[in-house]
Amino acid sequence: MKILLGITGGIAAYKSAALVRALKKRGDEVRVVMTAGATEFITPLTLQVLSENSVGTDLFDPTFESQIGHIDLARWPDVILVAPATANFIARYANGFCDDLLTTVLAASTSPVLIAPAMNTQMLLKERTQRNIETLRMDGVKIIAPDSGELACKEVGAGRLPDSPILLDAVDAIFFAPILEGKKILIAAGPTREFLDPARFLSNPSTGKMGYALAKEALNFGARVTLVSGPSALPKPSGITFISVLTTEDMFIALTQQAPQNDVIVMAAAPADWKAEVQLEQKEAKVEGEKIVRFVRTKDILKHLGEHKSDSSPFLVGFAAESHDLLERGKAKRIRKKCDALIANQIGGKNNAFGSDDNQGFVICEDEVVELERDTKTQIARRIWNILVDKL
Ligand SMILES: Cc1cc2nc3c(=O)[nH]c(=O)nc-3n(C[C@H](O)[C@H](O)[C@H](O)COP(=O)(O)O)c2cc1C
Repeated sequence: MKILLGITGGIAAYKSAALVRALKKRGDEVRVVMTAGATEFITPLTLQVLSENSVGTDLFDPTFESQIGHIDLARWPDVILVAPATANFIARYANGFCDDLLTTVLAASTSPVLIAPAMNTQMLLKERTQRNIETLRMDGVKIIAPDSGELACKEVGAGRLPDSPILLDAVDAIFFAPILEGKKILIAAGPTREFLDPARFLSNPSTGKMGYALAKEALNFGARVTLVSGPSALPKPSGITFISVLTTEDMFIALTQQAPQNDVIVMAAAPADWKAEVQLEQKEAKVEGEKIVRFVRTKDILKHLGEHKSDSSPFLVGFAAESHDLLERGKAKRIRKKCDALIANQIGGKNNAFGSDDNQGFVICEDEVVELERDTKTQIARRIWNILVDKL
């Protein structure tokens, strides 16, 4: 998810460092905009390092404006979270002020907005603060209720910024109805490697991004997820059962063992189709001239799962990576591999799905075909689940 984090000048601004870390750890993209007040409490540099993006602090900063203009920044996020939100910021935002980068970006954005008010209890309870919060609520802004407890000013009462997990849950709740609650979903992602000797292998450019996105979004939609992954540089998603595999045979074993416990299998992996007939245990020395290696077929995992289907088998979703005639080849593959649904995506050329953050293609089911317009793999994953949920 692409999250724009607005930080305003409250004492709880120091907690935003932990929040950015938590967002990054679960794979979100984060951009930070700070008010001038916020920079008194935590440095933009800290947030720049943690978010791995430059931090906006000044509406009229020509350098930042040339990197990503405030209008592009307003269009960029899936969601805007302002945490902590000061009484002053809430007053300005509720009254339509655009007198700094944060309020200007908010004014220019159509993304959903959440704010987490955090302040001294008396400030929070002041009628005008409550009135401003209510105005924002009526305008469609989601308000994250402040926690109660001991505040930085040593008063005890409402006004504390909730901890990161509560803020993250509030962000997720905006997007995800629990449409997959109660479902157990098994997803295979990434490439496999077939070694010729300990130093050389046959593989493919799959990064696992599509499968990981499907796993994360299934989790967000309430499913219990098991991810079987070939070698991938992506961070291991939290909250799911993770099984790491290396070869196509490993992936085959993991998937066939896990399959009976699941309601859905998504084969988003790109297992190597071939392996060396002989795998050498010792590294072969480099010699001049040609080298001929005999390859044999690895197991066709999707075909096996399709051929061994029964009425009680999981709903089977295959993937087709095709360089041409995407829809026709995808339709034929769905029937050939006996899948309930198949996602056809393009490889090669300018819209190559391999390794890209974006994807496009078709969801092909027996009764309908839905086109997936080009979008981030996260958004594509959400669309796929929204389409498949009716078929499960
Ligand atoms: C030490 C200190 C702590 C503060 N903590 C808060 C706070 O937690 N919440 C709040 O609404 N204002 C707090 N303020 C007041 C804001 O910093 C002040 O209203 C400022 O104008 C906010 O600017 P901004 O909303 O543009 O970030 C604090 C001020 C100081 C000096």
